Amino acid sequence: MSDPDLPVGVERRSFDGETRLATRGPPVYGEPTDGEWRAWGPERSKLGGMLELGFDAGLSGGETVLYLGAAAGTTVSHVADFAGPTYAVEFAPRPTRDLLDVAESRDRLFPLLKDARKPETYAHVVERDLDAIVQDVATRGQAAVATRNARFLADDGRLLLAVKARSEDVTADPDDVFADVLAELRGTYEVLETERLDRFHEDHLGVVATPK
Ligand SMILES: C[S@@+](CC[C@H](N)C(=O)[O-])C[C@H]1O[C@@H](n2cnc3c(N)ncnc32)[C@H](O)[C@@H]1O
Repeated sequence: MSDPDLPVGVERRSFDGETRLATRGPPVYGEPTDGEWRAWGPERSKLGGMLELGFDAGLSGGETVLYLGAAAGTTVSHVADFAGPTYAVEFAPRPTRDLLDVAESRDRLFPLLKDARKPETYAHVVERDLDAIVQDVATRGQAAVATRNARFLADDGRLLLAVKARSEDVTADPDDVFADVLAELRGTYEVLETERLDRFHEDHLGVVATPK
């Protein structure tokens, strides 16, 4: 059944008697499938967790997306199932090899072996006025990454960010880390919604923001 709060192309469907988010596309990581549909587990994906928790992500389907921290493509494969052109940035060569395999069967997914801290290195490839940036980079300086990449977003675009506290400082209280990251983000973005993702991802904060 389609759900008005979810993007077109994302549905809640039953897999082995359990209702789960799902997208339609070739399977990628051994996830349960039902015909063309593949389960999107919130415990495997920060964006999946944000949708499961009811964040207003501003996604309706068909968006242009820049995905930062794509790794081997677990989450970005689901994004490319329901979005339009999806640019996937990952700087580690090993997962990028798997990401290339994922992109083989998805003609809207464009993997880029690039450093998300250096958007000037992919600015000639990625289009402007994007609808969404999804960010899940496990690195220090997550607010700076979001700020530097804001140039790609449309004025009414959305940043969908998962902040990993331990990537900023392993010893600090996560709440202090989140406060610092949000303060820095607010230089460039208006923060619309925040909620901790601990139900699925320990010491992570989900953030929805839009350019100021
Ligand atoms: C938690 S994993 C991402 C998981 C992925 N988003 C998913 O749900 O399928 C974080 C990824 O960020 C990547 N990363 C960290 N710093 C980066 C940077 N500066 N530029 C690009 N990728 C980066 C890491 O190599 C790692 O693959």
